[in-house]
Amino acid sequence: PRPILLTRHGESRDNVRGRIGGDSVISDTGELYARKLANFVEKRLKNEKAASIWTSTLQRTILTASPIAGFPKIQWRALDEINAGVCDGMTYEEINKNMPDEYESRKKDKLRYRYPRGESYLDVIQRLEPVIIELERQRAPVVVISHQAVLRALYAYFADRPLKEIPHIEMPLHTIIEIQMGVTGVQEKRYKLM
Ligand code: G3H
Repeated sequence: PRPILLTRHGESRDNVRGRIGGDSVISDTGELYARKLANFVEKRLKNEKAASIWTSTLQRTILTASPIAGFPKIQWRALDEINAGVCDGMTYEEINKNMPDEYESRKKDKLRYRYPRGESYLDVIQRLEPVIIELERQRAPVVVISHQAVLRALYAYFADRPLKEIPHIEMPLHTIIEIQMGVTGVQEKRYKLM
């Protein structure tokens, strides 16, 4: 059976500052993860000639993929992080202070809440459909380097988790989730690289 490896990008400069969205580069810690990830992937997929690396179109995932050698890399806009609309680039504290109503509505229903001029989790789940179809079609392993909200949705699909849980699934940085689809169902392994 072929594995699907899911991981968030290495820590970004905006992660360090607590800012959501944006298109920042990765921090030194993020770069260290990128090198560890490359090492892991090159060993784990050594004999997998047809494997591929999928990223979003945002710098932090492309930079995280960059040390990985020997596999084609494909960028998907559908793998970009949830669009926080008018809140893009803000910290949760700033949103709470400047737009308390928005902050409260999101807290009440994180799955359905749509950022003004941005997206909801339901929107993200919907735009991931072509990615999921293509993942299902692949015969070779795929490494997906994406973002917290997107990976919650992808993971929930493969792990068969209910819709309402999706926005709350734990998706730590610097950890690889390996999904194996076999005849007996889905198996999962986690590798915490740092
Ligand atoms: O920048 C967006 C975050 O990765 C999404 O996290 O949906 O828990 O606010 P959240």
